[in-house]
Amino acid sequence: MSKQLILALSKGRILDETLPLLADAGIAPAENLSKSRKLLFDTNLPDVKLVVIRATDVPTYVQLGAADLGVAGKDVLLEHGAEGLYEPLDLEIAKCKLMTAGIDGARPARARRRVATKFVNVARRYYAEQGIQAEVIKLYGAMELAPLMNLADEIVDIVDTGNTLRANGMSPRELIAPISTRLVVNKAAMTMKHSRLKPLIARLAEAVERRRPRAASAAG
Ligand code: ATP
Ligand code: PRP
Repeated sequence: MSKQLILALSKGRILDETLPLLADAGIAPAENLSKSRKLLFDTNLPDVKLVVIRATDVPTYVQLGAADLGVAGKDVLLEHGAEGLYEPLDLEIAKCKLMTAGIDGARPARARRRVATKFVNVARRYYAEQGIQAEVIKLYGAMELAPLMNLADEIVDIVDTGNTLRANGMSPRELIAPISTRLVVNKAAMTMKHSRLKPLIARLAEAVERRRPRAASAAG
């Protein structure tokens, strides 16, 4: 196993919140990630490298050991499944909710409810647990359009402010899971590289902890 620790970061929205947290934990990329077309970066720590990849690819990289650690939304982790992964830390960033949603005052759903989502595994599990017959349709974006076009009766999607739903005449219905960004670790690496992973995870945990009073006082 390589001596390097590879940390896989989710691009996009999560990255913007991850970098300040990493900085608080004393981990800084050697160059400006947003100004570079590179995907693999050195950091100020000689044994830590970063890869910046699609959020949905992070669990795959970590599960298969191409990365030792990863930063990914709980939504993505629920959809991927937990095999080969430990989830030692809630980074408490990019908080939102995974919910069902539908058109306000919509007519009753088809007998076998049709649900559009990119979270097909989560949706199938959720409706089965509720004892609801559902046909789950995979979409890759703009889920909110599906009920408007009568492609689906309901969607399963991320809700934060609710603005996207409201703008499309829809409302949230049931909460499936509260979501935040998690640190995941490859199970084999956790054993083989424990002495180097442990202090790194501890630094991140301290950085999360240090933010809590600040967040609380900002809110109050
Ligand atoms: P991709 O571009 O790979 O398809 P994406 O468009 O879903 O991914 P982002 O929108 O950057 O990527 O979201 C990444 C993660 O951020 C989600 O998996 C979720 O955990 C979180 N997230 C998504 N939307 C919101 C939101 N509105 N508020 C807070 N967190 C969110
Ligand atoms: C996400 C998500 C919802 C929206 C929810 O989309 O897919 O559409 O945020 O947030 P809200 O409740 O605050 O409106 P995003 O803006 O990331 O765009 P995307 O469709 O490209 O993922």
